[in-house]
Amino acid sequence: MTILILGSGGREHTFAWKVAQSPLCDKLIVAPGNSGTAQIATNVNIKVTDFEAIKNLVLDKNIDMVVVGPEDPLVQGIHDYFLNNDNLSHIPVIGPQKAAAELEGSKEFAKTFMSRHNIPTAAYQSFDSSNLEDGYKFLETLRPPYVLKADGLAAGKGVLIINDIQEAKQELKEMLVGAKFGDASSKVVIEEFLDGIELSCFVITDGKNYKILPTAKDYKRIGEGDTGLNTGGMGAISPVPFATSEFLQKIEERIVKPTVEGLVKDKLPYKGFIFIGLIKVGDDPKVIEYNVRMGDPETEVVLPRLKNDLVEIFNATANEQLDTIDIEIDDRAATTVMLVSGGYPESYEKGKVITGIEHIEGSIPFHAGATNKDGEVVTSGGRVMAITSYGDTYEDAIKKSYQNIDKLHFDKMYFRKDIGFDL
Ligand code: AMP
Ligand code: GLY
Repeated sequence: MTILILGSGGREHTFAWKVAQSPLCDKLIVAPGNSGTAQIATNVNIKVTDFEAIKNLVLDKNIDMVVVGPEDPLVQGIHDYFLNNDNLSHIPVIGPQKAAAELEGSKEFAKTFMSRHNIPTAAYQSFDSSNLEDGYKFLETLRPPYVLKADGLAAGKGVLIINDIQEAKQELKEMLVGAKFGDASSKVVIEEFLDGIELSCFVITDGKNYKILPTAKDYKRIGEGDTGLNTGGMGAISPVPFATSEFLQKIEERIVKPTVEGLVKDKLPYKGFIFIGLIKVGDDPKVIEYNVRMGDPETEVVLPRLKNDLVEIFNATANEQLDTIDIEIDDRAATTVMLVSGGYPESYEKGKVITGIEHIEGSIPFHAGATNKDGEVVTSGGRVMAITSYGDTYEDAIKKSYQNIDKLHFDKMYFRKDIGFDL
């Protein structure tokens, strides 16, 4: 098969690394890709939301399957675009159709889906500029901290957690009336604050059957001790030590099953990954959010633990035969530590030469915001490279990642030295 992966992050390098190991894959193309995918696939420089360019590439290269990494093309309907085009409709796309991608594209849609299917989540109400005053009144009924979420996609920045009621009201107004997050905040979901520890559950579904992949925990804040600004993710660990089999059973019965059954009942066509952001409150899991893709950097620890041929899983997903697959998981722990550009998640410089990659031993460097230039690997984004390691315990694995990071360098390189500190 000739397989196309869309995206350019550490997640997509990890997909490419796993797909390239499959005997079913003869040729692998990544668009646009990065310096990591360039080592194992052909990069083609087109944007993941340029559907026409993707169509031309797929027809030109006789591509047999498209795997979508990020959410944007899914929320914009890339799967529907393929189904509605006579020349493309037979080509499987891994990722939900537009109607189902609203689970990530609209927080309000996700909340009404959960309430309709009795899936445990924080209590909420949603507001727009026509009922701002009601929003203020609702805030007064809640205890701090106040959780305000822009309804639409806001590049991971659309959630505010605020202690002071006056400030919460002010921010609500800025979101709804001042368009703080543009169109994405023309509606705002206000939620009850849930106090607990977060983890993520990954599911692949063919729209009928589902398989659960390893759990992972990511570290979202830029600073050690989970302080400072939110980022895309600074590191991850799999499995999650506190996710006992009893707790996993609760996640499957109360959340995964009703989610997949809900998709069927609501006629939301879904062939792809569901990333369920969870919080453990007491002994009970509740849903924080749905994403319609894999996580980044969670993919960098989840896929290395998957023993199955990923292309076989994708074929079964496309053919609605996931019930024929037995998922096999590596017993070892996997950890990853993200190297980022100094200044990220605010402004940072690019084009810094990355040295030492060839000295890495016993870890896997998954490239993210990194590109080839004049024979060197240089930084091209905020999150630059994820260093993944295996170990008998997550402590062993994380030690290996840090030992290898000691050999790597680029100007203003930063990383968190405390991944796993809270476990
Ligand atoms: P989201 O984009 O919905 O995942 O929210 C971003 C982050 O905000 C989450 O990873 C949580 O850390 C936090 N968060 C979101 N909703 C809540 C909530 N209801 N209670 C507590 N923390 C939350
Ligand atoms: N690491 C969080 C995400 O991919 O959304």
